[in-house]
Amino acid sequence: MYSPNDTVQIALIGAGGMGQGDAKLATSIPGVKLIAACDCYDGRLKHMKEVYGTDTFTTRDYRQIVDRKDIDAVIVGTPDHWHVPISVACLGSGKHVYCEKPMMHAVEEGAAMIEAQEKSGKVLQIGSQYRSSLTYTKARELYEQNAIGQLNSVEAWLDRNTAIGAWEYSIPTDASEQTCDWKQFQGNAAKHPWDPKRFFRWRNYRDYGTGVAGDLFVHLLTGLHTVTNSKGPQRIYATGGLRYWIDGRDVPDVMLATLDYPESDEHPAFNVMLRVNFKSSLPQESFGVKFIGSEGIMTTGYDGVRIDKSPMDKTPQYSSGTFSEKIQQQLREARTDTPPDPMADIRQDSAQVFDTGHFEAQLEHHKNFYRSIREGAPLIEDATFGLRAAGPALLTNESLFQKKIVFWNPETMTRAEAMETKPTGGQ
Ligand SMILES: NC(=O)c1ccc[n+]([C@@H]2O[C@H](COP(=O)([O-])OP(=O)(O)OC[C@H]3O[C@@H](n4cnc5c(N)ncnc54)[C@H](O)[C@@H]3O)[C@@H](O)[C@H]2O)c1
Repeated sequence: MYSPNDTVQIALIGAGGMGQGDAKLATSIPGVKLIAACDCYDGRLKHMKEVYGTDTFTTRDYRQIVDRKDIDAVIVGTPDHWHVPISVACLGSGKHVYCEKPMMHAVEEGAAMIEAQEKSGKVLQIGSQYRSSLTYTKARELYEQNAIGQLNSVEAWLDRNTAIGAWEYSIPTDASEQTCDWKQFQGNAAKHPWDPKRFFRWRNYRDYGTGVAGDLFVHLLTGLHTVTNSKGPQRIYATGGLRYWIDGRDVPDVMLATLDYPESDEHPAFNVMLRVNFKSSLPQESFGVKFIGSEGIMTTGYDGVRIDKSPMDKTPQYSSGTFSEKIQQQLREARTDTPPDPMADIRQDSAQVFDTGHFEAQLEHHKNFYRSIREGAPLIEDATFGLRAAGPALLTNESLFQKKIVFWNPETMTRAEAMETKPTGGQ
């Protein structure tokens, strides 16, 4: 255990867009010092020295980071296929790990992360920063106050309308087999001849990335699980295709998934619809999770939570005009009054908006990691949470590519042959 004043020396493994962003936030926290960086492209290592000083140790080979005894914690910001091997190796050498989402490349790797963390006794934080966001914290509070009544379904979407948003990243002018370590990048993935597009736009290829499922559905499920405290779905179906970005990628740019969440101690059974569309949807509707309940609808966005009163008209209604007068009279006499609504002040006629705009969730997520290292504070996103969010997300890929319904046991976090847990209601 460290004292709150001890310096935590860190290394970044995978110094691309997210990794460098993570490192910048981590080192803005007092007492966190970056002393080493690892990447397969020399240009990014050069930039790390430009930012963190020429004495920063740099290497193309992550094992040189694993072997160092003066590194307390690492940030793993590599492509998805390296998350588990590198995190497990770092935990095994006694380092704390902040691993970017999705926690793993294949569902089967998830258990190894949980086991490695338990065996090492070190802190392993998974980097789905929305877990730390004020928006979902507020939404969870409202959900627990019964602000929307009984949850029945959730619609969540994360769309993009730009080339960068659709993963058409810049390729540096000096990209070559001399400046890029293609062998180290590929690792255990299927081998291909050197290809700068595969290297710098790896998200477009299933050998290294996990498509929109691992990149974006994971964020949506993280938010959903945070609000409902759910362990996950039991039946998963997805569809989609490549509709616009026909650039050689082998992943879809439009994907829709439906997931059935079974009844649990925390919530009733409900149904979920996820959507990613890279071209195109309305900008004002680019990101949101809509929780639909019996009494209201709660929508989370980038910077707030909105509660709308359910449009359901509860005044008794009768479609009885064709019945005899006697029956019509009997039905009128049988009408009951609607019971008083304890949340009436929150569910007013107009929408209630809770602004959570200027909160830096990613920084808070890193702060939580260092509080956990230094003070043993409870971790906000451990490997179990990471697997419960990423597992079902990755299974949407399996459903799409194999054209089948996939079953999952949210309790044991393993695949299921068919429904093993409580039914979701109408099948
Ligand atoms: N939490 C978020 O909101 C968020 C946002 C973006 C990306 N991410 C995640 O961060 C990860 C990185 O994404 P990115 O956009 O930064 O990608 P990137 O391509 O910009 O960076 C990845 C870097 O990893 C390096 N790399 C590859 N194999 C390596 C190895 N074996 N050892 C060391 N370095 C290696 C590459 O050379 C590259 O520079 C992904 O898993 C992604 O899902 C998370």
